[in-house]
Amino acid sequence: MASATSIEHIEERLLREHHARLEESLVRLDDALTGTLATTLLIGLLITALTVWRVSHLEARAAHLQRQTDLDRDQLRDLSQRLVHAHEDERKSLARELHDQIGQMLTAIQMVFTNIELGRGDPMQQVEDGKSLTQLTVAAARSISMGLRPSILDDLGLGPAIEWQTREFTKRCGILVHLQMDGHLESLSEAETICFYRVVQEALTNCARHAKASGVRINLHVGRETISLTVEDDGQGFDLGDLPRRGLGLFGIQERVRELGGTASIFAQPGKGTLVRIEVPSRTEGQA
Ligand SMILES: Nc1ncnc2c1ncn2[C@@H]1O[C@H](COP(=O)(O)OP(=O)(O)OP(=O)(O)O)[C@@H](O)[C@H]1O
Ligand SMILES: [Mg+2]
Repeated sequence: MASATSIEHIEERLLREHHARLEESLVRLDDALTGTLATTLLIGLLITALTVWRVSHLEARAAHLQRQTDLDRDQLRDLSQRLVHAHEDERKSLARELHDQIGQMLTAIQMVFTNIELGRGDPMQQVEDGKSLTQLTVAAARSISMGLRPSILDDLGLGPAIEWQTREFTKRCGILVHLQMDGHLESLSEAETICFYRVVQEALTNCARHAKASGVRINLHVGRETISLTVEDDGQGFDLGDLPRRGLGLFGIQERVRELGGTASIFAQPGKGTLVRIEVPSRTEGQA
């Protein structure tokens, strides 16, 4: 009987110990589950916060790009309008030149003829006046047409026309030009010829007006795949981020070159001179 009671006690103790271990395991399981849940929640919160931050960052970037695009569009519209006005101004100035120079001189020549007809003054002197007025008129007409479509391009071609332009530039402003040209310049199309001539003209005019340079280097190369031109001065340069809004010359260069499928780049820094570089694809293979 006594041994039966002791077995019962042992069984009871074993059962209690078993229960205690089971409860301990349950508590540990509970703790582990709570920990895992907390970590998962934390990671979830972190991912949500990161996603929100990334989305708002992307939204801010998109808004910034949109503002930039609007600004660029406004600037382009503004430049196009000014280009139209510039053409209009050019026509007006041409009309004025024709009226003031050619018109006035032709009137003076007419008066010389009238004087001769009416026997006024010394006839030989009248003839001399008439000749010199005619010479002046020819020179004026030539200078106006040079500005519009340099006849030297038709007469001599691009190379000599650029040589002439640089010589005139040095005569006018005292700035030395080092000119190098190679390749088949005569193979260029009419549009390319005018483009390169005008770009040199604008770059030299800018140099005379803004650069305070002592020298300019011009390099024109007609290659197999591209025709390239660089005009580099050793003047005071300028800050590209601070361009005056009224200038049209550099914009005009970019427009001309874009029309020929090429690229134009301007490199400038205050105190470090200015470099204009354009590159236009060659139309003909094997013309290097
Ligand atoms: N070679 C240069 N040296 C120093 N500054 C220059 C040079 N070329 C251009 N710049 C600067 O860049 C600006 C823009 O040049 P751009 O040719 O577009 O206009 P502009 O010469 O002022 O006027 P426009 O050519 O319309 O008569 C100039 O006003 C000048 O400040
Ligand atoms: Mg200019």
